[in-house]
Amino acid sequence: MSVRDDAIAAHGGGELIDAKAPPAERDSLKAHAASLPAVKLGARDLADLEMIASGAFSPLNGFMGEADYLRSRDEMRLASGVPWSIPITLGVEEATAHGLKTGTDVALTAESGERLAVLKLAEIYRVDRQREAQAVFGTAEDAHPGARNVTSTPPFCLAGKVILFAEIPGRTFLEYRLEPRQTRAAFRERGWKKIVAFQTRNPTHRAHEYIQKAALEVCDGLLVHPLVGETKGDDVPAAIRMETYKVLLECYYPKNRAMLSVMPAHMRYGGPREAILHAIIRRNYGCTHFIVGRDHAGVGSYYGTYDAQKMFERFGAAELGITPLMFENTFWCGKCLSMASYKTCPHTDADRLLLSGTKVREMLRAGQAPPPEFTRPELAAILVRAMRETK
Ligand code: ADX
Repeated sequence: MSVRDDAIAAHGGGELIDAKAPPAERDSLKAHAASLPAVKLGARDLADLEMIASGAFSPLNGFMGEADYLRSRDEMRLASGVPWSIPITLGVEEATAHGLKTGTDVALTAESGERLAVLKLAEIYRVDRQREAQAVFGTAEDAHPGARNVTSTPPFCLAGKVILFAEIPGRTFLEYRLEPRQTRAAFRERGWKKIVAFQTRNPTHRAHEYIQKAALEVCDGLLVHPLVGETKGDDVPAAIRMETYKVLLECYYPKNRAMLSVMPAHMRYGGPREAILHAIIRRNYGCTHFIVGRDHAGVGSYYGTYDAQKMFERFGAAELGITPLMFENTFWCGKCLSMASYKTCPHTDADRLLLSGTKVREMLRAGQAPPPEFTRPELAAILVRAMRETK
């Protein structure tokens, strides 16, 4: 079955991008790449490469050229007009850029030097990383982890189509690492037509579970889709988070309604702009709905609680091709004796269990499990143990 037969087309309306060389062509591409000038990719670039190659970043079939870069930075669209909220560039040092020629092929390598992909170098251009950070994150401050990543990336960009001919080394959670074609096939197998995706970079707590299940009430299936690319140093590592997701699904979700798979992108902490990108990516994975709760992809106090939700108003529903399901700040209410939100609970904050991420981390560091109304005991036990082991 072609992807066109899917209920949901890839972003941009076309076929899902497939930038992976067919097995029969891999050896000859590898031999070709051996003779090419090489450019080494860091962990975040490799994550972008994986996203492009698998089609998760469709319609991108390579690192962005200048026209796409400028329009995505300034208007949250590709040059074609298709929504795209965060530039995807391959930044290199000036000396590297000067040593390369457009119209030629370049080998992209892992940190080890292993050649993984060919880049058809179409353009070399220079960008203003301060301006990019300001546009994307609303700040170019070093204190913002996403802005710091952008401003520390060299300003020379290599653009063009990529062809991946080798496995990217260091990929984790292989059993759960389904590519867009595979999640789409899994949804078809299960007979799901309305599929809601849940982005997360944190261990699961009751609020996550509550909004996932509220969304599932109006959909056929739930894709729990944690981001497992690079995150900032004080976020809980993906391996520990994965344990919490697995146990949650095992203990509290019907097997025929929920699925766990990982998403290889790195975290940009771009709040509203990243929420749009996260939705687009999930469309490519074949989802029809996407959960956007409070302070989605936020960090510190850079974004307002519902800024990410408001950002969706800037795009037509059809052009995003995935429906956002918005949720208010949710919590346990001691008077309702249930999970609730500011929308559904008439009581006061004194009745509500409102714990900040910082407070929870402090409790865990002190070997104390958060209350069961905040975190399921099975998951709290995993987190307390992990904290003890990493001390
Ligand atoms: S994020 O950076 O991936 O957004 P996190 O994993 O904490 O961080 O959140 C995953 C999703 O759950 C996001 O859509 C976020 O807005 C939502 N969310 C997290 N906590 C709450 C909460 N208490 N109430 C409502 N939505 C929440």
